[in-house]
Amino acid sequence: MIRSVKGTHDILPDKTGLWRKIETALHSFMHKYDYGEIRTPIFEKTELFKRGVGEETDIVSKEMYSWTDQGGEKLTLKPELTAPVVRSFIQHNLGSQSAVNRLYYMDALFRRERPQKGRTRQFHQFGAEVFGSEHPEADAEIIAISYNFFKNLGIGNLTLTLNSIGSDDCRNNYRNELRKYLKPFSSNLTETSQNRFKKNPLRILDTKIEHEKEIIKNAPEIDNFLTDDDKSHFEEVKSLLNDLSIPFVIDSQMVRGLDYYTRTTYEITSSVLGAQDALCGGGRYDKLVETLGGKPTPAVGFAAGIERLLLALESKTAESGDKVIQINIIGLTKKVRSKCQVLAQELRGKGFSVSTDLLRRSLKSLLREANRNSARIAIIIGDDDLANNTVQVKDMGTGEQITIIKNTLIEHLTDLDF
Ligand code: HAM
Repeated sequence: MIRSVKGTHDILPDKTGLWRKIETALHSFMHKYDYGEIRTPIFEKTELFKRGVGEETDIVSKEMYSWTDQGGEKLTLKPELTAPVVRSFIQHNLGSQSAVNRLYYMDALFRRERPQKGRTRQFHQFGAEVFGSEHPEADAEIIAISYNFFKNLGIGNLTLTLNSIGSDDCRNNYRNELRKYLKPFSSNLTETSQNRFKKNPLRILDTKIEHEKEIIKNAPEIDNFLTDDDKSHFEEVKSLLNDLSIPFVIDSQMVRGLDYYTRTTYEITSSVLGAQDALCGGGRYDKLVETLGGKPTPAVGFAAGIERLLLALESKTAESGDKVIQINIIGLTKKVRSKCQVLAQELRGKGFSVSTDLLRRSLKSLLREANRNSARIAIIIGDDDLANNTVQVKDMGTGEQITIIKNTLIEHLTDLDF
């Protein structure tokens, strides 16, 4: 009898119903955040992952399913989706069509890891990437999407762990300091870590080897190397998360297993999962588009493992079928920025599809965008609204604009007959 390959699983009819529910819930949820779905091929040129993810990472150095085809081309079954989405973003020139591109995906991935509960060699992820904004609102939006999706599904004991690994400048200084600290221990490091010491010592912080974990316990921490800009970016991300009532813990030694990150990195774990407890991971990668040959474009994203989500859900079922009405929220001043994010989260919670500005643009250009988006409603908030606890509701069809008391807004929107 020929059995399935080690680390791969069939999904039989008693489970496919739950998978479909998750998929439906995800499409509806991402629509509320105004993200468009992207699908990329199942295999790519090996070079994409070597350059994109980093040659020293476990994924690229040990885990890829790669081969040379009959034409001599080196190919790889995709082990992650950020590099392929960036490749597609560049190839189709998406950056020139829209200042901000919000994309999401759901797909099968392949990594030759040691199989165990919650870790397989073919697994599935859903995730999102937003291109074009360097501002903390984009980081907060990505983190909120992942956190709120799990929370809405009723997954318990969630922990969001956050870090900033700074921009390039800061990391060069940090890399040098880390080398200085590790040098006296170099004869105790494994061969892999000795190689990483030369090429990318940050990777050593991600070690799974017990005696190396002891060594790095006292290593210098990256937060002492952040530039003033990195620090204020991180402070704004944290403050937005506080405004959105998303709890987090800081771990300044958290480096993720991929080399492309800059500034914000994060993971969400659930203690209901056991050893493989990471439900999702992500962060900002402001240099990757450029590294892969595109125009410099800031970006941030996350990906979550669907098998782990199912383990966490056990028998719980996903909610779906919300009412979808497109709303664009426009903040007129710096003071109202976080209010806009909070209101967007509240309205999505009530089933509306809501888009917010990530580029701090003018009223005129945001109204133009609302038209392009076919938004039915624009909600405009200025300093006066903040003082009077009101919002301006503009019907994008008729152009009529009225002032609404904030706590009657949901009632007002629900009563609208579109
Ligand atoms: P990652 O941390 O490698 O990040 O994977 C994200 C999630 O995929 C993990 O938290 C876990 O839930 C799931 N996962 C990873 N490997 C396996 C496996 N072997 N079996 C089952 N589940 C697994 C990335 O892939 C980045 N591309 C995330 C990202 C997107 N960063 C920015 N944008």
